[in-house]
Amino acid sequence: MTPGKTSLSAIKAALFLLCLTPAFLLWRGLETDSLGANPIEALTRSTGEWTLRFLLITLMVTPLRKFTGWHWILRLRRMLGLFAFAYATAHLATYVWLDQFFDWEGIARDILKRPFITVGFAALMLMLPLAATSSNFAIRQLGGRRWQALHRAIYPIVLLGCVHFWWLVKKDITWPLIYTVIAVALLGLRGWWREQERRKQLAGGYLPQQPKFEGKVIKIFAR
Ligand code: HEM
Repeated sequence: MTPGKTSLSAIKAALFLLCLTPAFLLWRGLETDSLGANPIEALTRSTGEWTLRFLLITLMVTPLRKFTGWHWILRLRRMLGLFAFAYATAHLATYVWLDQFFDWEGIARDILKRPFITVGFAALMLMLPLAATSSNFAIRQLGGRRWQALHRAIYPIVLLGCVHFWWLVKKDITWPLIYTVIAVALLGLRGWWREQERRKQLAGGYLPQQPKFEGKVIKIFAR
């Protein structure tokens, strides 16, 4: 199944609105004062969790393509990756603005002294170059292979996101555990594919090669 140009544009538009829904619901929650007793905490937590969810959804695109043969879904990955970055930015903004009131000294102290903040900060810093090189222009400038190598940073980013979550929960570890299991499964699958590829090449008498950059400049946040 490969949608035509118009259908793909419609799918992209629908996905865009779907990705905006959590932000819209949070905005409505703020307006109607229905985010609970501590709306700032609710905002910080929700944007943090959506960052992690979007990262995981972005990582699901390649397995989904492999299992279904729907190559066109790669064209949705850039948007998903950029939404992960947008929610991460909103997450940081709620912390800097609503939680810390731009107290830069306090923020620097937090980054240095509170391990879960240090890890979250590291994850966010690693996301910056990925977002900055998401355009077709940047992909052309970097070259496919270098671009792909850079965008493999999504693997440590997602793991740091999970560690950040584990570190801040006090009792109920259900959600950090669920996200970590999904992340490890998605990364493990990639490791397994690589190993299969390597074995196939060795069996065929070839030297193991880096996977080739696949075609056009439509990719975002690694494979
Ligand atoms: C400078 C970067 C970051 C800072 C300062 C930061 C800070 C915070 C703070 C203050 C909380 C709330 C803690 C609490 O209420 O006890 C939080 C929660 C969270 N953050 Fe971050 N964070 C950062 C980056 C990230 C990134 C990059 C991700 C995802 C990859 C992320 C995912 C989460 C998650 C999943 C939660 C918990 C949500 C929940 O409790 O349901 N954070 N973060």
